[in-house]
Amino acid sequence: MKELTPPVRLLMGPGPSNVSYRVLRAMSTPIIGHLDPEFIRIMDDVCQMLRDTFLTKNLLTFPVSGTGSAGLEAAMVNLLEPGDKAVICVHGVFGQRLTEVARRYGAQVINVEATWGQPIDINQLIDTLKANPDAKLCAIVHAETSTGVRQPLEELGAYLRDKSTLFVVDAVTSLGGIPVKVDEWGIDCCYSGTQKCLSVPPGLSPITFSDKAMAVIAARKTKVQNWYLDVTLLQKYWGNSERVYHHTAPITMIFGIYEGLRIIAQEGLENRWARHQRVSDILCQGLTELGFTFFAQEGYRLPELIAVFPPVADQVEPLRKRLLNEYNIEVGAGLGPVAGKIWRIGLMGETCEPRSVSRLLDALRRLL
Ligand SMILES: Cc1ncc(COP(=O)(O)O)c(C=O)c1O
Repeated sequence: MKELTPPVRLLMGPGPSNVSYRVLRAMSTPIIGHLDPEFIRIMDDVCQMLRDTFLTKNLLTFPVSGTGSAGLEAAMVNLLEPGDKAVICVHGVFGQRLTEVARRYGAQVINVEATWGQPIDINQLIDTLKANPDAKLCAIVHAETSTGVRQPLEELGAYLRDKSTLFVVDAVTSLGGIPVKVDEWGIDCCYSGTQKCLSVPPGLSPITFSDKAMAVIAARKTKVQNWYLDVTLLQKYWGNSERVYHHTAPITMIFGIYEGLRIIAQEGLENRWARHQRVSDILCQGLTELGFTFFAQEGYRLPELIAVFPPVADQVEPLRKRLLNEYNIEVGAGLGPVAGKIWRIGLMGETCEPRSVSRLLDALRRLL
């Protein structure tokens, strides 16, 4: 077998994003035991930095061992018991995944849908919630990576605040790139992924549960169906007192997220959000000049994930492959109904710099 020498790519797809050398260096330091007092200090600091990033005081805030889908599963399996009603919004692939997972755990799912490229209509959603006051949760994707749509959440949070229905948010592609205000918006469970705007390799899924969500879990009639993701067990390892062995934490990933979150704290969340918007505006301007048009509805476009129709409708995929092979630039392909029609250009975390925009626009000018 030959030596491992992957190419150095500019990662402008839907994730993973490029990772800072600071994070890579942290991940190459020698490992220590997962119950070592020094590791426990690092875990505590990671939890605190995650609270600061989610803008929450929630005690149970920690990184699930696994990618974003593990956080999605953890949210569904802890909050839903067989037979529970769940209102789940679908405006792209990840709402579909939430639906599939909730159904697998025995929930009765009521979908509220929007056409791909558009946000969920809040009035239609609130009407559905009014008709189903017994719904255990309402789940929605904040940044739909398959379409580039930013879903506004404030109004939904305000509606659900004094209701028994829990407010669950997928912030996999939003955390660290655009505002995610867990406490202010009344979110009860929010999960993310490391490989997007946090710019840490894939492998952890930060998650947070409100006291209201924890009370619902404590009142369950049945055991959480998945042992590995059961937060009543995980909180004894991640929580502040007991430190009971549950599973062996992925030490190297925890080192990585530690450094990634330290970088975010040093930059400042608001500065980071502003950088994503500023650099994205430059890219969108350049793409417009080259004849690209946008897929997501105006006013609801994510700065960190720009879904576009290239100006050469019959060359969408060949051109994307040339970008990768000739220029070492990765952009994402379309999914579902827009497969082969759009590109999904990521500007997440470490990648989101003017130099990435210049490199992509330069390459496109030559290719087109
Ligand atoms: C919005 C959203 N939710 C969930 C996931 C699943 O995350 P992962 O692929 O890390 O398991 C993704 C991944 O792209 C995503 O974009």
